Amino acid sequence: MAVNVPKFKLNDGKEIPAVGLGEALVDPRFPNLSKPEEVTKAVEHAIKEGYRHIDCAWGYGNEKDVGEGIRLSGVPRSEIFITSKLWGTWHSRVEECLDQTLSNLGTDYLDLYLIHWPVPLNPKGNHPVFPLLPDGKRDVDHAWKLADTWKQMEAVLKKGKVRSIGVSNFSQTKLEEILPTAEIIPVVNQLELHIYNPQHKLIEFMKSKNITPQAYSPLGSTNSPLLTDPDVVSIAEQHKLQPADVLLGYLLAKGIVVLPKSVTPSRITANLTGAIRALETLTKVDVERLDGLAAAGKQKRFITPPWPVDLGFEHWPKLL
Ligand SMILES: NC(=O)c1ccc[n+]([C@@H]2O[C@H](COP(=O)([O-])OP(=O)(O)OC[C@H]3O[C@@H](n4cnc5c(N)ncnc54)[C@H](OP(=O)(O)O)[C@@H]3O)[C@@H](O)[C@H]2O)c1
Repeated sequence: MAVNVPKFKLNDGKEIPAVGLGEALVDPRFPNLSKPEEVTKAVEHAIKEGYRHIDCAWGYGNEKDVGEGIRLSGVPRSEIFITSKLWGTWHSRVEECLDQTLSNLGTDYLDLYLIHWPVPLNPKGNHPVFPLLPDGKRDVDHAWKLADTWKQMEAVLKKGKVRSIGVSNFSQTKLEEILPTAEIIPVVNQLELHIYNPQHKLIEFMKSKNITPQAYSPLGSTNSPLLTDPDVVSIAEQHKLQPADVLLGYLLAKGIVVLPKSVTPSRITANLTGAIRALETLTKVDVERLDGLAAAGKQKRFITPPWPVDLGFEHWPKLL
């Protein structure tokens, strides 16, 4: 299907499709999460329906299923923007983790590679993904410097294995740990961004550095209260849009890349066409109204993994 997906320009001159398909975690510990065949079908369907941007990660454990979906779509690799992310246990071995990702996906380059979280985990701990200390807390490698992870990200870029590099879940404090010694400024910072967690101050700081924001959980994640928010519903009715369209169009109107996740074919299709329609329809007044909801009492984060370190974010639960 021919859909004209808007693109945003990154600080390295490359372009990124402004709507991407978010990829669900596949984890045998949580059987209610997406199943491998669901992921493959979702990716194939999305690309056939016009998506040209897929967001995945080594840590989601489903890169092989994503790669299969891309191949089944029949659309050439060169027409698809693929992002993946470096997991915490690999901060000191960036190229090794990347090589696994490339092999899993069945490609020889990524369009964008991100540091998934600014939390290096013990590479020699008791588990390859989530090493834990005897007290049950996540086993963080406190001696490792994020600036050194970033140097290794720059090296794989220079080698041509990835076309752009960026970060995810970096507060201003964490960005300031890598920027002074960075030769290359991150092109994006992927964050939890939606009407209840707009992170206005951080977005302003990123703008000053020309770092493009990407929104994960743009719909408010699973069983989202955002879809029934009275202001969202009223704006949707006013413009004959769906609530999900309003949530996505709002972020696009602010120059934020959106990564809605769905494994439901009808929703995958509707999220792309609806987001574009909403971008064309929402007014400045609508955007300002939605911009104010969090400060008016609705501030809420949905994704707060129990990292035993201060990430430097506003509105993050207190460390135990
Ligand atoms: N960088 C990071 O640390 C990080 C962290 C979390 C997420 N992410 C990325 O961001 C993506 C999206 O985040 P997310 O999965 O938390 O949240 P989301 O995209 O805000 O919400 C996904 C949920 O909404 C449902 N949904 C999708 N479209 C819908 C529609 N039109 N109407 C009603 N419900 C709809 C989905 O159900 P169905 O699937 O059943 O349709 C799913 O339960 C992830 O998949 C991942 O790629 C990144």
